[in-house]
Amino acid sequence: MIKLAEHPNELNFASNGMAEVTVNGKKICVARVMEGSETRLFACAAACPHAGARMAKGTVDGLGNIVCPLHRYKFSLTNGRNVSGEGYHLKTWKVEWREDGVFIDLP
Ligand code: FES
Repeated sequence: MIKLAEHPNELNFASNGMAEVTVNGKKICVARVMEGSETRLFACAAACPHAGARMAKGTVDGLGNIVCPLHRYKFSLTNGRNVSGEGYHLKTWKVEWREDGVFIDLP
């Protein structure tokens, strides 16, 4: 696990709930999703596997899928599955928000 921040606020989420961070030279998109009063954090590749659009410029739909800003392909933030069915796969990593900070499960 690699520490991203002490608190999610440090990640500077844009109004769409997305932030882009660089971890070990790798660009990662972090999505903040509200489930009721709970905040959940997800991480995926910064670039769309279709044609490289910046996922952090996209949106998250009501089912927890990230929607690419360019051609609107949808991917599960939990497992990267291309739920709109075009056959791509988005790399995802688990994010944990614990008492001692926000961590990403990057190898
Ligand atoms: S670049 Fe993301 S769907 Fe085409």
